[in-house]
Amino acid sequence: MAGWDYASARAVLGALLAPALLALLVSPALSFGDWEKPTPMPPLPPREDAARVARFVAHVSEWGALATISVLEAVRGQPFADVLSLSDGPPGAGSGVPYFFLSPLQLSVHNLEENPHASLTMSLAQTDFCRKHLFDPQSPLCVHIMLSGTVTKVNETEMDFAKHSLFTRHPEMKSWPSSHNWFFAKLNITNIWVLDYFGGAKIVTPEEYYNVTIQ
Ligand SMILES: *[C@@H]1O[C@H](CO)[C@@H](O)[C@H](O)[C@H]1NC(C)=O
Ligand SMILES: *[C@@H]1O[C@H](CO)[C@@H](O)[C@H](O)[C@H]1NC(C)=O
Ligand SMILES: *[C@@H]1O[C@H](CO)[C@@H](O)[C@H](O)[C@H]1NC(C)=O
Repeated sequence: MAGWDYASARAVLGALLAPALLALLVSPALSFGDWEKPTPMPPLPPREDAARVARFVAHVSEWGALATISVLEAVRGQPFADVLSLSDGPPGAGSGVPYFFLSPLQLSVHNLEENPHASLTMSLAQTDFCRKHLFDPQSPLCVHIMLSGTVTKVNETEMDFAKHSLFTRHPEMKSWPSSHNWFFAKLNITNIWVLDYFGGAKIVTPEEYYNVTIQ
């Protein structure tokens, strides 16, 4: 478990264990690797600043569900969603670009080879934010975003940033079997919807989204 997720695991354990045991659990001797230390999640930006909220969700997310158009015979031409690990940058240095580490063996990649159009959703339900505030994942208060666009391979210039972004947030990727021919890809975002309050999804343009400066 990495980054912000660790905080929620600790909260659950904290409720179950005696304070003395908790102190032991978080003692330096038992701490996890550098990128797996409990990093407190930064505060949610003001909900009316939808572009900033979208960048926030994209940055704190370790994964998202990507919907593609299936080439599987049983569901050819139909939407098909899968969970993919992602990163838009190292902690505190998000770019807004969702990067993926993909293999040609994946069903989603078969789909993308035929049709690169995709829709990606990310939700604060994957952090302790919604659980702590008792927001149901479907509630707009449990902030989630939907991004549409095309999935493209990352070029040589962008490769180092994509790799650093993914490997700092998902250290185990380094040891994924090379026989699977992993490659770096990203979502080229064309449309953005933000569900962060009642009254319907807010539309954010990619220009507004990439214009946001984080930290
Ligand atoms: C690589 O991709 C980046 C980001 O899309 C772009 O700015 C850059 O011009 C590309 N470089 C080459 C050599 O195509
Ligand atoms: C990203 O999408 C825009 C808009 O559809 C398109 O003009 C651009 O060529 C795409 N970039 C890449 C790298 O596919
Ligand atoms: C970009 O950010 C600046 C400074 O916050 C703001 O004044 C400007 O309106 C923004 N532009 C867009 C397209 O969002």
